[in-house]
Amino acid sequence: MSQSVCRFPAGFFWGAATSAHQVEGGNRWNDWWRFEQRPGAIRDGTASGDACRHWERFDQDFARARGYGHTMHRLSLEWSRIEPARGRRDGAAIAHYHEVLASLRRHGLVPLVTLHHFTNPLWIADAGGWEERATVDRFCDFVRFCAREYGGEVDWWCTVNEPEVYAFRAYSEGVWPPAKRDDGAALAVMANLLEAHGRAYRILHEEDRVDADGDGQAVRAGFAKHLVQLVPDRWWMPLDALRARAEDAVFNQAVMRAVVSGEIRLGIPGVKGVRRRVPELERSLDFFGLNYYTRWRVRMFAPDPHVTRRGVPLNDLGWEVWPRGLAAAAQRAAACGAPVLVTEHGFADAADKFRPRAVVESLVHLGRAIERGTPVLGYLHWSLMDNFEWADGTRARFGLERVDFDDPARPRTPRASAGVLARIARANAVERTLAAEVGARV
Ligand code: FCB
Repeated sequence: MSQSVCRFPAGFFWGAATSAHQVEGGNRWNDWWRFEQRPGAIRDGTASGDACRHWERFDQDFARARGYGHTMHRLSLEWSRIEPARGRRDGAAIAHYHEVLASLRRHGLVPLVTLHHFTNPLWIADAGGWEERATVDRFCDFVRFCAREYGGEVDWWCTVNEPEVYAFRAYSEGVWPPAKRDDGAALAVMANLLEAHGRAYRILHEEDRVDADGDGQAVRAGFAKHLVQLVPDRWWMPLDALRARAEDAVFNQAVMRAVVSGEIRLGIPGVKGVRRRVPELERSLDFFGLNYYTRWRVRMFAPDPHVTRRGVPLNDLGWEVWPRGLAAAAQRAAACGAPVLVTEHGFADAADKFRPRAVVESLVHLGRAIERGTPVLGYLHWSLMDNFEWADGTRARFGLERVDFDDPARPRTPRASAGVLARIARANAVERTLAAEVGARV
């Protein structure tokens, strides 16, 4: 037997993550679809359109995921399909997701179901979206419905994906719908999404009483947090350090504090902040869903405060590739007191040039952190296949599989990385031979 560089704990989950709007195709009833029709909204001029046609092809997609040794799969339920108008639920969409969940089970994949992944039904967007507290109530109705409807098939739930990313991109940078540039609104939205997470967490525990996988627990609920590392670009410049700390305080620390203590305290100098206590938020994680991609180097006085350094490896979107970061982020996440589940990690790399090595190096660092005591339950790669990468369109290629968007059938072709991750998943370890093959420095 080949020697391993590191081994993962028994029962460690392996898999990939997706979200409905990015892969399904035909999601016409949400705010993203409407936004994509605006000229210039999507950088490469594409739109989600048919996306990957996963809506029709899910069963084959899951069969291949199983072939790669995956044991868990993260997907999201599209609220706008299930409830296209307030209080009116669509029977066909509801039945479709039952088929999707049954297919996952058939292929031996444990479903991890996200309830909010950036998109909103048009009727929610038109009523003021996440700036309105009423949206939290409407979302809670949706969560209650899903817990009752799908609780018999689902134990693992992710309430809200990346509240901080959504709030800043959509309400501060203005590059996602509703394209506002208002930091105060961004903080209000982030607070509402955090409250929504806390309340959804309690609802799931109340309503989903069925232990679908027979492990003794009917519900494991968490959120997914984009835990980017913020570091001063010039370590000798106190102002860079100050800015890095200030950004970290609102983007990371405040979010992590809220889900542990129940206290929402969001502030940006010169902007109306939010302070409120949400009792449901206190200790509202059965797992910490960790999304990790990169670190940001921060400069105080720069047109874009996040800068890149010459000579630093970058992915196709210009994000720094820093394989040690995944383990560092997992250690930080674990300080919240819940076990960590890596709900996203990946690289935009159309040519699959550096992904195999970066995946191996990241997993070796993660494996070693686990050996030193960081509790991590599993690793889900973003993504199973190339998909619609929001404002970057289809040019950003994050897939273990390449998707041909010029072909209406959307054929998928596995990249070498799919095989690399499959070998790790099947061995539940990184073997020395694999590390050497991909040129990993471990
Ligand atoms: C994350 C999102 C996911 C995908 C990846 C690349 O922030 O949750 O939908 O876009 O980035």
